[in-house]
Amino acid sequence: MKFENLIIDKKRNIGIITINRPSKLNALNKATIEELHIAFKVLNKNIEIKTIILTGSGEKAFVAGADISEFANFNIEEGTELARKGHEILFNFVQNLETPVIAAINGFALGGGLELAMAAHFRVASINAKMGLPEVSLGVIPGYGGTQRLPQLVGKGKAMEMIMTASMIGAEEAKEWGLVNYVVDQSELISFCEKLAEKITKNSSVAISAAIKAINANYTNGVNGFSVEIEQFGISFGTNDFKEGTTAFLDKRKPNFE
Ligand code: COA
Repeated sequence: MKFENLIIDKKRNIGIITINRPSKLNALNKATIEELHIAFKVLNKNIEIKTIILTGSGEKAFVAGADISEFANFNIEEGTELARKGHEILFNFVQNLETPVIAAINGFALGGGLELAMAAHFRVASINAKMGLPEVSLGVIPGYGGTQRLPQLVGKGKAMEMIMTASMIGAEEAKEWGLVNYVVDQSELISFCEKLAEKITKNSSVAISAAIKAINANYTNGVNGFSVEIEQFGISFGTNDFKEGTTAFLDKRKPNFE
């Protein structure tokens, strides 16, 4: 895969996507969003890839937001379409991807950058990371899921404060708030995420995809998460991984999943 704004690496069963526009602090322009859609789609289809790590290039930013220069002159219809398409091809797409996605937040994650990290399945930040949704300082609101995913992760009161004040929080505070799971040195960020990915790889990827579906169901309007859990739990019993996992346990050996 060759991209203008992304670098793709593969290490064992891990796919690493690096957003690579460092001179613009990796801001998400239209082309980058489209490339991300393709990269996630292709890696998700690759059966060797069990986990995807998403990060930004350089030492300063994960992603400093949607590219302001691209939408500054948009009208109401264009603004609506920008958000709608973004949800469809990137933010909801990542949230619902079958392959687990870890956001490795290596610096500024602002606006669309934090929204992208929040669409990932979980997040690890480097000590220097700074996170915020500064959209109201630009006269707009978060449009890539921020008003929904931030309250889900940190609670309504903290989300209200972060969005209204447009201010940034540091990595330790983000961990305290539940926005990121771990804070590590910047030099160790990717290797730390790789270790988490290795742990994920040992488990059944079929079961992990089913768990992602069931967990996400709780956050989907009109869908009953408990019903989806029951359905996915039942489906598991028909998979080869279930037979292998339970047989391996009873045989006192390590499972060898598909
Ligand atoms: N969209 C477009 N370009 C962006 C950008 C964004 N969201 N964020 C940064 N850039 C560009 C800057 O315009 C600058 O480009 P230039 O060198 O061609 O002028 C370059 O990236 C470096 O950014 P700069 O502002 O000079 O770095 P800084 O260290 O002084 O400040 C930030 C860093 C992150 C505080 C600042 O860039 C910023 O506030 N960015 C916008 C954040 C934002 O509001 N995001 C939400 C968008 S909805």
